[in-house]
Amino acid sequence: MTTEQKDIQKILPQHVAVVMDGNGRWAKKRFLPRTAGHKAGVKSTRRLVELCSIKGIGALTLFAFSSENWSRPDQEVSSLMSLFLSTLNSELNKLHEQGVRIRFIGDRTRFSEKLQASITAAEKKTEANSKLKLNIAANYGGRWDIVNAARILSRKLVNGDITENQITEQALTRQLCLVDLPEPDLFIRTGGEQRISNFLLWQIAYTELFFTDTLWPEFNDAAFDEALDWYATRQRRFGKTGDQVKGTPGRQTG
Ligand code: IPE
Ligand code: IPE
Ligand code: MG
Repeated sequence: MTTEQKDIQKILPQHVAVVMDGNGRWAKKRFLPRTAGHKAGVKSTRRLVELCSIKGIGALTLFAFSSENWSRPDQEVSSLMSLFLSTLNSELNKLHEQGVRIRFIGDRTRFSEKLQASITAAEKKTEANSKLKLNIAANYGGRWDIVNAARILSRKLVNGDITENQITEQALTRQLCLVDLPEPDLFIRTGGEQRISNFLLWQIAYTELFFTDTLWPEFNDAAFDEALDWYATRQRRFGKTGDQVKGTPGRQTG
């Protein structure tokens, strides 16, 4: 059976969000520099993007660099920046051919002009693609996202474009990153830690959370299948009772 056939009966998430953690520890175990772990991690990322396309998962959001990761040693930060730039440039054509739409979320103004230009070019080139919506969270923080949205709404309020009563959950959601996509159904964190580390906060209010000890460079087809199999067993209740949602597994819309 092909990967595609095997997944036909399975309830698949429409949107998967991943904290790709454990590169440093993977390298340390091998007496390699941490940067070797980040390089090895790129292979897992490339394969996951491919797998999502094959399986027909519509959206994938990857945590590549948090707003807190600037506090790492300068040498690690700069080698990560070089890796982002070289990977983006070397993968872009293939991703475009695969029908992947690439977007970056996060405050990109802190990146070098060269990286910002590559990001803009990648987004522009792939904007009309619809096979897989790939979002890369870089210099992203969930709190930053919410503060940003609050700032936009307060500007509207001060300008008299909206009233206080129009500050609703829906109005705030509309100003957040990823607003055009369904909220993540499945969150995966590799590397053994069971925390969110300021990734998507608002958007994962009802997401199923899957944690695995597998280190990111070792995250392969079988590891992804394990997460998807686990997801397929979840009953999503969105505040209702189990009986109310019985017989309607998978994604419900509340
Ligand atoms: C995740 O791996 C990659 C980034 C944060 C860029 P880590 O570098 O955090 O790996 P560990 O957690 O030290 O093993
Ligand atoms: C989260 O991992 C950020 C990314 C994977 C990009 P960290 O390694 O930075 O998270 P903490 O510091 O262990 O919480
Ligand atoms: Mg880490």
